[in-house]
Amino acid sequence: MAKRVITKKTAVITGAASGIGRALALALAREQCTMLLADINEAGLKETLEMVERSGGKGEIFLCDVSKLDDVTRMADHAFNTWATVDILVNNAGVASTGFMGDIPMKDWEWIVSINFWGVVYGCHAFVPGMKKQGSGYIVNVASAAGILSSPEMAPYNASKAAAIAITETLKSELAPYNIGVTVLCPTFIKTNLLDKMRFTDDFQRKCSTTGMANARWTPDMIAALVVDAIRKDRMYVVPQLAAKVFWYSKRLSPTAFFGFLAFLMRMGWGRNLMFQLAKLGF
Ligand SMILES: NC(=O)c1ccc[n+]([C@@H]2O[C@H](COP(=O)([O-])OP(=O)(O)OC[C@H]3O[C@@H](n4cnc5c(N)ncnc54)[C@H](O)[C@@H]3O)[C@@H](O)[C@H]2O)c1
Repeated sequence: MAKRVITKKTAVITGAASGIGRALALALAREQCTMLLADINEAGLKETLEMVERSGGKGEIFLCDVSKLDDVTRMADHAFNTWATVDILVNNAGVASTGFMGDIPMKDWEWIVSINFWGVVYGCHAFVPGMKKQGSGYIVNVASAAGILSSPEMAPYNASKAAAIAITETLKSELAPYNIGVTVLCPTFIKTNLLDKMRFTDDFQRKCSTTGMANARWTPDMIAALVVDAIRKDRMYVVPQLAAKVFWYSKRLSPTAFFGFLAFLMRMGWGRNLMFQLAKLGF
């Protein structure tokens, strides 16, 4: 398949005020793209736009809470009315939490699902019809390795990210006749501001996540470069880190053995220790 051209395209990026979203905006700015930078954080968006303009791109900021269908619909209408075609949509905005089932307050489940799940659904729902009409486009959904591995103490995050993977997999075939490509990004720890809003139910979880983030070897810029390459090559899965790849292949080889082993570690009381060791390695 011929490589997709990214230079001078139009792109909408949610969660563009920080971390991976900002890095993607800068990577696309270097390709001279025109962007709608969306987030709930206006100050962060303004900073991103300044950086984008310094890097050769252009665009505007758009205040949008991805958990609100009206906001996302307004954003899609604005993008299609301004540019006529939307070439790239990145559903990146997201939040994280940890905790055991039963301990996690229902309001935290609802919070995660409203942003990580409904944000992706609303984004796809609002942009797919226009992309179909134009007969082209590309959607990147930012999930997580958590959506593949379903590790303990992360049920809401795992479930919301597994849904983002399933939606992307569905769209791969559904949108193929319209020349619309899809990528799902599934990283482990990357140094961003994700911890700022992250919710925990105990101190171990906070310590483990903080340690993982502090030791993360992957930066948002490295991830953004991989995503841009994936769009060019129409690559469906981006699983950047080696450890995530190894766990992903192990799970595919034998899901029963994979989850049986995790269950064994938890029964022996070794699960948390292993999680902490992995966090110290930046997983
Ligand atoms: N950093 C990691 O280790 C990591 C690992 C795997 C997956 N991810 C995923 O990457 C994505 C980006 O996160 P990040 O790590 O760059 O974190 P980040 O906190 O630096 O950036 C997330 C951005 O999303 C925005 N956001 C949050 N709620 C929103 C809402 N309701 N509407 C619009 N914007 C909202 C925030 O304001 C922030 O600017 C998330 O989906 C996250 O789950 C991150």
